[in-house]
Amino acid sequence: MKVIGICGSPRGEASRTTRLVRAVLRGAEGQGAETAFVDVAALTILPCTGCETCYATGACIHGDDMAALQEAMVSADGIVLGSPVYIDQVTAQMKAFIDRTADAIHCQLLTGRYGCSVATTWESGGNEVVEYLNHVLRWLGVVTVGDTWAALGEDPGAILPAEKAAVTLGETLAEAIRTRRKYPGQEEEIAENWRAFREIVRNHRAAWPHEYAFWEERGWL
Ligand SMILES: Cc1cc2nc3c(=O)[nH]c(=O)nc-3n(C[C@H](O)[C@H](O)[C@H](O)COP(=O)(O)O)c2cc1C
Repeated sequence: MKVIGICGSPRGEASRTTRLVRAVLRGAEGQGAETAFVDVAALTILPCTGCETCYATGACIHGDDMAALQEAMVSADGIVLGSPVYIDQVTAQMKAFIDRTADAIHCQLLTGRYGCSVATTWESGGNEVVEYLNHVLRWLGVVTVGDTWAALGEDPGAILPAEKAAVTLGETLAEAIRTRRKYPGQEEEIAENWRAFREIVRNHRAAWPHEYAFWEERGWL
């Protein structure tokens, strides 16, 4: 079982969100998972230009670190997303990464994986950010098992209960992967997304041959 944790804080090991992502990974490791931590801000992931080359060919015009990160996600069973709240949203680094998953979303590339999200904030936006991150995961076809976020202010001790909750979240994630746990409400949401993207891909057969071929090869059309 492989679990990858992807964190969007630009503050490296000083990051409080990094601590939560790492705590989720520790929880999953305790249940036998092999884990990897990815610091998105330390990678080169350029913003999407909206050129749609990836829809047409499967490759991005930016020859940067995103292709390898996407491969790592595909080879994982579990995906953890984490971001600090920046002006009530994810960081720019996290958003650049998310925008670059547009082709993966059209292809429902992470179907069958499980995931969860974490966030830290001074005060506002924590719940909105984890809900957004989990929504992105479900758009990729990932079943989400929960979230943890914490409003930490400047209290250095406030991270401790959040880390504990994050370890538990990691245990839940690993357990869901192992037992292929069912989340009936989400299955309907993900199936509805799948049908909507199938329609989009069908309607763009000529413009997006890569995506059409991807769906056709899987017998999904
Ligand atoms: C540019 C910037 C914007 C921020 N925006 C918010 C905000 O909208 N609401 C809030 O409560 N905290 C905000 N914060 C505080 C961070 O969310 C908080 O300190 C967080 O724990 C930092 O995470 P990190 O240690 O993982 O980098 C902001 C911090 C920065 C640097």
